[in-house]
Amino acid sequence: MFKTSYLQKQFYSFLKIYKTKPIKNNYSGMKIDHCFALYCFLKKIKPTHVIESGVWKGQTTWLIKASLKNVKIFSIDIDLSNREVIYNDVKYLNQDISKYKWNKLNKNKTLIIFDDHVCFSRRLDFLKKNQFKHLIFDDNLPNNHISYYTPKMIYENQYLIKREFIKYSNVGRLIKFIIRYFKNEFKNKIKVIFKFTFLKIIYPELIDKKLKMKFDDLRKQIKFYYEFPPLTKFNYKKRFNKILTNFDEKIPNKYNVKNPIFKKLKNNKKINNELNTQYSNICYINLK
Ligand SMILES: C[S@@+](CC[C@H](N)C(=O)[O-])C[C@H]1O[C@@H](n2cnc3c(N)ncnc32)[C@H](O)[C@@H]1O
Repeated sequence: MFKTSYLQKQFYSFLKIYKTKPIKNNYSGMKIDHCFALYCFLKKIKPTHVIESGVWKGQTTWLIKASLKNVKIFSIDIDLSNREVIYNDVKYLNQDISKYKWNKLNKNKTLIIFDDHVCFSRRLDFLKKNQFKHLIFDDNLPNNHISYYTPKMIYENQYLIKREFIKYSNVGRLIKFIIRYFKNEFKNKIKVIFKFTFLKIIYPELIDKKLKMKFDDLRKQIKFYYEFPPLTKFNYKKRFNKILTNFDEKIPNKYNVKNPIFKKLKNNKKINNELNTQYSNICYINLK
């Protein structure tokens, strides 16, 4: 989709805009790697309508406006109270994307950005029914690194292996888990490992016939799938620091990430602090 030399050139135009971002600390939201990806995708696809699912403080809303002229934006979040930037010309909606009618939009010119932490398997019927063609998915992590299905897993024909870590000090979560356990919601197939300060839970692989058919169907509908590369060499330790330090996990032997755009970026403390911290194989999917 992009040549590395093109991305290297684009980065400096992006940086000029990124330096003016109104939200200073977008924790839990998109950081520099994915903001650059989103900027490049928007410039390439040139949608006239963008639906973003997952607004949080409004950083991506700001970036869409800063990257495209004359774009109609629908910004959806089931909790709009965290917004730090609000625009009069953006249509804000507070229910799930599937609750609205999108039949009037030209699907060839409409892009959806999913950044809402909703399992991608729950989006398949909606996408099919509405015939959307251009999608971006933010938290596109591989198996074992997230608790729900991502496009990456489905594209690579994998079934979710869900792991959960619960600290003993997190009494609320612990109680909820125990209740679910004794209600036998997992049909005794889960593995519970007692560690010194936390519980590690491994759920069984979920291979459901209906789901499998839906995944097969989606793979047939995919015309093009593209994962955006990280800006600099992917650093597993930096990216998954919390899980490595809090939950005794080991760095896996294999963790495939695209080659970076730059070998090294000029020393800039603000940028360096953000690099790699949130990189999750953000992808673009073009459906038939
Ligand atoms: C990672 S944040 C979004 C970050 C934002 N795109 C950014 O980078 O500036 C995820 C957001 O999704 C929202 N969310 C959760 N479920 C949702 C749903 N079903 N539809 C839309 N938003 C949802 C949460 O309230 C949260 O604000």
